Amino acid sequence: MKIGDALKRASYILRKAGVETPVTDSQLILSHILHIPRWKLITEREKELSKSILDYYFILIKKRSEGVPVAYLTGKKYFYGLEFEVEEGVLIPRPETEILVEEVLKRIPKDRHFHGLEIGVGSGIISISLLKHRPKLKMTAVDISDKALEITAKNAIKHGVVDRLILIKSNLFEKIPKNQKFDFIVSNPPYISEEEYGKLSREVKKEPVEALIAGKEGIEFYEKIINEGISFLKEDGFFAFEIGYNQCEKVSKLLKEKGFHTICKKDLQNLDRVIIGEKR
Ligand SMILES: C[S@@+](CC[C@H](N)C(=O)[O-])C[C@H]1O[C@@H](n2cnc3c(N)ncnc32)[C@H](O)[C@@H]1O
Repeated sequence: MKIGDALKRASYILRKAGVETPVTDSQLILSHILHIPRWKLITEREKELSKSILDYYFILIKKRSEGVPVAYLTGKKYFYGLEFEVEEGVLIPRPETEILVEEVLKRIPKDRHFHGLEIGVGSGIISISLLKHRPKLKMTAVDISDKALEITAKNAIKHGVVDRLILIKSNLFEKIPKNQKFDFIVSNPPYISEEEYGKLSREVKKEPVEALIAGKEGIEFYEKIINEGISFLKEDGFFAFEIGYNQCEKVSKLLKEKGFHTICKKDLQNLDRVIIGEKR
């Protein structure tokens, strides 16, 4: 079978299975298997594929039709201009999280030796992007999941920042030395309420539930991170969180109660996505 015909058949299978982006997904999966960029699939439409490649391709297409996200099939996802490894068991990086990275970078002077803390590092996208853009920055990052720490370590090595990243397996602040102080605490914590989780797509439900759900209201983690985190922040330190579209007010209230000024930032869909709490 030729590349063009394989793509046509795969798109048809995905469309019939209700996948929203059948053409893109069938191209992404084939370009991953062939180790060639997507555009080359178009210029090489007439090239014949071997039986073993075709068999493997249609195994992955079947998995995709069953709802497995493309990033878990290809094992990679781009974030903030960098390629990250991802695997089942860690949250797939979302483009909205780039806004959080932007906002934190604005607050880290290039010439200062800041030390930041990330709670819930996942695949490492936030800490590693920050470290790549601020050569004097050091990060401590925690996660409760072994898989997340393993993938973050791989990504930190891949991007050459492993010497400035301390990884700790910890339930929130539990394993962080009590006397340690940070310039900022950043987190994209689980923030989906139990009720909202029920409405999510089958794709999202293939991702680890402990990376998504945060109690009845969805704000459990913000409460804990703010209340416990305050003793780990320097006097002029700041908090930076990704938030759900309807959480600006609730999280802002939590921060204000602790004496922080707050600012919420919107994403490209004009929905609240990030909150910063700082002492001015
Ligand atoms: C929404 S994901 C964010 C992952 C990554 N930072 C990102 O932005 O893609 C939340 C992360 O918090 C971790 N997590 C959940 N509960 C935790 C806890 N009690 N202590 C530390 N990490 C936790 C999950 O394992 C998951 O990796």
